Amino acid sequence: MTRENEVLSAFEAFTGDYDSFMERTGHVKAIYGSLDRLRKFLKGRVLDVATGTGFVAHELAGLGTVKEVIGVDISEKMLLEARKKASRKEKFVRAEAEQLPFPDNSFDAVTCCLGLAWFADHAKALKEMASVCREDGAIIVMQDDGPMCVGRSEGMKRFADLAAAVTLSDAKAVLKPLGWHAVSDFTVKIDTPQHILATAVFRMVMG
Ligand SMILES: C[S@@+](CC[C@H](N)C(=O)[O-])C[C@H]1O[C@@H](n2cnc3c(N)ncnc32)[C@H](O)[C@@H]1O
Repeated sequence: MTRENEVLSAFEAFTGDYDSFMERTGHVKAIYGSLDRLRKFLKGRVLDVATGTGFVAHELAGLGTVKEVIGVDISEKMLLEARKKASRKEKFVRAEAEQLPFPDNSFDAVTCCLGLAWFADHAKALKEMASVCREDGAIIVMQDDGPMCVGRSEGMKRFADLAAAVTLSDAKAVLKPLGWHAVSDFTVKIDTPQHILATAVFRMVMG
C-alpha cells in the first residue's frame, strides 16, 4: 500500500472516533482558542484544506465576517461527517491538497489545520494554497508540533508513525520565496506541556 493510501485508510478507520478523540485530547479547545486570535484575518470566502470532519470549517462559518467556507479533503468518509455539521455557509468537496480545483486568487483566506504532516507533498500543497489565496489574503497553518504520540495510547502511536515530520519552519521555507511571510506566530498548549499547537499566519509582502 502506498503511504497515501495508508494515510487515507488510517483516517477512514478513525472517522467515527475522530471528533471525540480531538475533544478528549484538548485539540478542539486549542484550535478554537487559536482561531479566536485570528479573527481579523478570517473574512469573505475561506478555504479549509484537509478539513477532515469539518469542525474548523464549521467554527469559521460561525464568524459574521465569513461569507462562505469550502472544506476539502481526500477522504469522502471524513467529508460525510463534515456535511452532517454543515450550515448553509459551508460546502465540502473531495480534493487533494496538492491539486486544488479552484482558480487562482479565489479565496480571502486559506486555513490548514493539522494537515501538513499527512500530505504526500507538503511543498506542493502549500504552493497550491498560495495560488488560490488572494494576494491581500491570509494563509493560516496550524500544526501539532512536538512528539504527537508521547503519553498517548498504542493505537495513537501506530497512527502517529505515519505522520511526516513537517513543521511550521518547513512551511515558512516553502512560502517565503513566493513572497508569503509569517506575520504572526504563536503556540497554544494542547493537553500536556509536550503537546503544542503551533500557528502561523502568512501574508503576501509586495516588492
Ligand atoms: C489530522 S486530520 C485534520 C482534520 C481537520 N483539519 C482538523 O483539524 O481536525 C488530517 C486530514 O488530512 C486529510 N488528508 C491527508 N492527506 C491529504 C491530501 N493529500 N489532501 C487533502 N487532504 C488530505 C485526511 O484525510 C484527514 O482528514
